[in-house]
Amino acid sequence: MDDNYSADEKPIADSPALRVYAMPADTNPRGDVFGGWLMSQMDLASGTFARYIADNRVVTVKAETTFLKAVEVGDDISIYCHVARIGNTSITVDIECWAKRLRAKRMIKVNEGIYTFVAISDDGIPQPIAKDLHAPE
Ligand SMILES: CC(C)(COP(=O)(O)OP(=O)(O)OC[C@H]1O[C@@H](n2cnc3c(N)ncnc32)[C@H](O)[C@@H]1OP(=O)(O)O)[C@@H](O)C(=O)NCCC(=O)NCCS
Repeated sequence: MDDNYSADEKPIADSPALRVYAMPADTNPRGDVFGGWLMSQMDLASGTFARYIADNRVVTVKAETTFLKAVEVGDDISIYCHVARIGNTSITVDIECWAKRLRAKRMIKVNEGIYTFVAISDDGIPQPIAKDLHAPE
């Protein structure tokens, strides 16, 4: 990351695992973007990422999330995923959610999460993950 950015800012060029707009339909009755909406986007982004790394069907077994700043309608949300750990049948993914507001030059970090997935067979039995299949960065 560019040294000119603080810990809660990010250059816009980095490639996310998922990018999505927060829409009016994603709000709670107070008009704030619903936290559960963001968690589902994080599950989708990191689940797709884990499926690629494991090269297998995966299920979410654990989701830890910290809401750092409120998401606003119209925010352009980028979700970044990195491998935190590969176990025997599980993969733990570090997730960061960043929001770009209209005409902003920088993104702000709105959420961090750690989600764990387990590779499973078609009948739901945990399957070993080949660690050298897709080496984490
Ligand atoms: C995921 C699931 C198949 C694991 O079954 P299980 O009998 O607990 O399997 P195991 O005890 O052999 O554990 C398998 C792996 O999951 C990990 N695991 C299980 N429970 C966990 C938890 N609460 N947190 C973190 N990791 C967990 C184990 O550490 C193990 O990892 P490792 O092989 O890398 O060491 C089963 O719990 C399940 O089907 N859960 C429901 C998943 C689901 O419906 N998700 C929502 C929709 S995707």
